Amino acid sequence: MRKLDFSDLDTLIKLDLVLGYLAWSKKQWEASVGRSNFYYSLDLNNRGFILIQDNVDIVHLLKIVVLKSSRRNGVASGLMQELFKYSSKDIYLEVEQRNISAIKFYRSFGFESLHVAKNYYSNGENCMKMLLNRNN
Ligand SMILES: CC(C)(COP(=O)(O)OP(=O)(O)OC[C@H]1O[C@@H](n2cnc3c(N)ncnc32)[C@H](O)[C@@H]1OP(=O)(O)O)[C@@H](O)C(=O)NCCC(=O)NCCS
Repeated sequence: MRKLDFSDLDTLIKLDLVLGYLAWSKKQWEASVGRSNFYYSLDLNNRGFILIQDNVDIVHLLKIVVLKSSRRNGVASGLMQELFKYSSKDIYLEVEQRNISAIKFYRSFGFESLHVAKNYYSNGENCMKMLLNRNN
């Protein structure tokens, strides 16, 4: 994991478009570079990335994205391993409730559902808030 800076920003912005309406604008990405606690890891072949906010008590997994053509090859699992090596804090995340593949992915690492927030996203989708408790 490395601190978010401008070096890979164009690659991250391109990969982020996979998320559709949840993708950040260039402005949002640039603002994130200024945050002291944003870290990312980019797959060696630029097939995907993970982005986190490293808070005092907890890591917030903001995004994990893999190109469609590269899925089910362990790319995202490799990125999660990078995160596990980087920090042993609990990990929190939010995901669209309809995003079954991502939820299955997260559950495969032991993430548990905390709460569903109805009508959370701008398109009216519900949000599942999940936690990986690593400290007990
Ligand atoms: C979720 C996502 C990151 C997974 O990436 P990936 O590289 O395909 O994941 P992996 O190959 O490491 O999968 C690991 C395990 O997760 C589970 N999993 C992943 N995708 C799955 C799917 N579509 N259906 C069921 N299980 C799935 C499986 O248990 C899988 O192990 P297996 O392939 O041996 O069965 C990818 O589907 C993606 O980029 N989705 C779009 C972006 C997104 O929604 N991100 C989450 C919100 S930010």
